[in-house]
Amino acid sequence: MAAKIKTIGVLTSGGDAPGMNAAIRAVVRKAIGLGMNVKGIYQGYKGLLNEEIVDLTARDVADTISKGGTLLYTARCSEFRTEEGQNLGAEICRKHGIEGLVVIGGDGSFAGAQKLAARGINTIGVPGTIDLDIACTEYTIGFDTAVNTAMEAIDKVRDTSTSHERCSIIEVMGRNAGYIALWCGIANGAEDILLPELYDYDEQKLINNIIGNRKRGKKHHIIINAEGIGHSSSMARRIEAATGVETRATILGHMQRGGSPTCKDRVYASMMGAYAADLLAEGKSNRVVGYRNGEYVDFDIDEALAMQKNLPDYMVRVSKALSI
Ligand code: ADP
Ligand code: F6P
Repeated sequence: MAAKIKTIGVLTSGGDAPGMNAAIRAVVRKAIGLGMNVKGIYQGYKGLLNEEIVDLTARDVADTISKGGTLLYTARCSEFRTEEGQNLGAEICRKHGIEGLVVIGGDGSFAGAQKLAARGINTIGVPGTIDLDIACTEYTIGFDTAVNTAMEAIDKVRDTSTSHERCSIIEVMGRNAGYIALWCGIANGAEDILLPELYDYDEQKLINNIIGNRKRGKKHHIIINAEGIGHSSSMARRIEAATGVETRATILGHMQRGGSPTCKDRVYASMMGAYAADLLAEGKSNRVVGYRNGEYVDFDIDEALAMQKNLPDYMVRVSKALSI
């Protein structure tokens, strides 16, 4: 069946995530296979407004699947939050013959895609964020690489923490969501996991736990603290003063967003990128690609943005049960 539109664009927006290149590659190659032309837009919505637009061929995305970051670069663009910016964005798409657009990013980027869809540009969102905080999907591109990177770093901190019989507070990314913290907490066998969705700011409980664990013979005390709670350095100072246990804070930071994507990220990104090209070829618009119950699916962007996501309750309870 011939594609319903001739030319599509692809951009990455918001924080980068390992696997974004695999998603771009899949969009480009699947779309070309369906008879569409593809244009790459640099630096997200900022590049769209600056008309940083190039033709992309199947060869242009060769040797990219294993690379971290995004070959299209990414940006945050406040101008695109305004009606003038959105009108200009749609006008520029039309000027370049871009009838459909794949937006790889998070909820904010999808809100931008929604605005372009309302202005007649067919848009499809692909979930790309290490935070796993997009409600309509069980998986977001970049999460697996990020948690593996963080897990390996935390293992290293744990070695030195044990040698010195210290308490270590390790802060991981995730914006306001606790998924990276929860997964690392379980994978690294942390004594405490502080999750923005659940933390009660009762530091005395943490102090009692550290003192209790010392009495039970534990040689270290690993606290995984989510970025959404933050303040790891001042927390470390207070805990050391209250427990007498030497305490250090480590903020892992942006190293969690880099690196070659894992197999899982490459495959999910490839599938989601290809799925987005299929949707555009079918003439669909204002949709977000997701992964649910073992299948790739799509949702209306308005509905997707209205959905809520909660941390898995059983996983939280197991993380506590295993930390004794
Ligand atoms: P993410 O996509 O990872 O959630 P941001 O929230 O920073 O990241 O959003 C990325 C970009 O998407 C913003 O810099 C802005 O250009 C655009 N954007 C975010 N929210 C909106 C909105 N409500 N309307 C239009 N554009 C938006
Ligand atoms: O959304 C991905 C993310 O890395 C968050 O975990 C973090 O809060 C944010 O982006 C950091 O953004 P920036 O790179 O602009 O500091």
